Amino acid sequence: MSKTAELKIDGKTYTLPIIEGSENEQAFDVSKLRGDTSVITLDPGFKNTGSTKSAITFLDGEKGILRYRGYSIEELAEKSSFIEVAYLLIYGNLPNPEELQAFQNDIKYHTLVHEDIKKILEGFPSNAHPMGVLSSLVTSLTAFYPESLDPNRSSEAVNMSIIRIIAKMPTFAAWAYKNEVGHPVNYPDNKLDYCSNFLKMMFALPAADYDADPVIANALDKLLILHADHEQNCSTSTVRIVGSSQASLYASISAGINALWGPLHGGANSAVIEMLENIKKDGGDTKKWMAKAKDKEDPFRLMGFGHRVYKNFDPRAKIIKKAADEVLDKLGVKDPVLDIAKGLEYEALNDEYFVERKLYPNVDFYSGIIYRALGIPVDMFTVMFALGRLPGWIAQWKEMRENREPIGRPRQIYVGENVRPYTPVDKR
Ligand code: SDX
Repeated sequence: MSKTAELKIDGKTYTLPIIEGSENEQAFDVSKLRGDTSVITLDPGFKNTGSTKSAITFLDGEKGILRYRGYSIEELAEKSSFIEVAYLLIYGNLPNPEELQAFQNDIKYHTLVHEDIKKILEGFPSNAHPMGVLSSLVTSLTAFYPESLDPNRSSEAVNMSIIRIIAKMPTFAAWAYKNEVGHPVNYPDNKLDYCSNFLKMMFALPAADYDADPVIANALDKLLILHADHEQNCSTSTVRIVGSSQASLYASISAGINALWGPLHGGANSAVIEMLENIKKDGGDTKKWMAKAKDKEDPFRLMGFGHRVYKNFDPRAKIIKKAADEVLDKLGVKDPVLDIAKGLEYEALNDEYFVERKLYPNVDFYSGIIYRALGIPVDMFTVMFALGRLPGWIAQWKEMRENREPIGRPRQIYVGENVRPYTPVDKR
């Protein structure tokens, strides 16, 4: 006998089915509520509302658990590679050696972008934010691959669209950076692995050899794994809802990039470094800034702290914090803001306001410190987040399409004017 919930409205009782997931999460299904009662649910920010049933990522905010297709983030970060994790998220299982090799070869074969895309890039002024350039270049793929516009084409055609965007995203990201610094773009070098190729496109300069430091390439690969998916976060929900109208994969991913850009979401990693630099400039008085973060009259928030789901340590933050120490040590980098970050973390973890609200460091709190040590400029940090999140967006879009989910169209409660007659302007 499946479980149910009862809802009493105006003296009448309605029975709602309870859905239970494979990790015993429960939800009562309100999909028939309006038809039976003319009543809807209301939940600004969807803080307590599930939008779908998904088999991709599981996270437990109370216990600080994160798993991709059942594999723990700790194991994947330590033992896997970003390309292998991308395959796992998109196709559902870890690839065997032949599958992994074929996937890597497919990606290497498609890293080059149409030469006319350089004309789009050159149309941007050098002060264009790389996230705006990235979302525009991704959208341009709809013009160069018009067959990608129809998400209902064969699974082979959809898979070709998937391979192309995974292959070309590092090229777009590096080109957005080169446009900003006024350097000539570099073309992909398919002899290299995914991260080394990206670093070379980012940092190689004419008439100078460039070999990516394996320490940097490995650290970047681990960071991309940690950002690869995170269930129904703001940008992933955007990708799903845009894709639910049967808009193309590239249009949906471009929308996700723009949602990620916001400082409350993926833009937080850049905001954390800007915050830490301000605190350093202000003399490093972390107590003053903690007080600002708690002052309701002050719009300042402790960037990189708090999370909609994690009410315990974000497991990714723990891994990144450890990696930050290792990478800076290996590279011989001393970054004074790392000490400020650790000081803030210590104070927040012992402060009643933060403890009461279960505000812990999230994925963005330490990631910027590593990106900076890797030589990546601050306004490229969110581009790095997008590079990591791409396979998750693809997997979620693919699952939504394969499950033939309905177009996303939330309801509302109207609180405006009641009906009133039009009055001519000379009578107002
Ligand atoms: C990401 O969803 C995901 O999974 C996202 C992500 C992913 O992988 O996709 O994990 C990536 O976006 C991480 C979050 C990055 N953002 C930041 O670091 C920005 C700073 N954090 C906050 O703005 C906030 O914590 C959010 C946006 C992350 C979560 O906001 P919620 O869930 O809407 O919580 P809230 O704003 O209702 O806050 C609850 C209380 C409030 O105080 P009260 O009204 O109860 O008195 O906590 C306070 C808030 O004022 N609060 C903070 C705070 N975060 C929440 N106070 C000071 N500093 C903060 N950072």
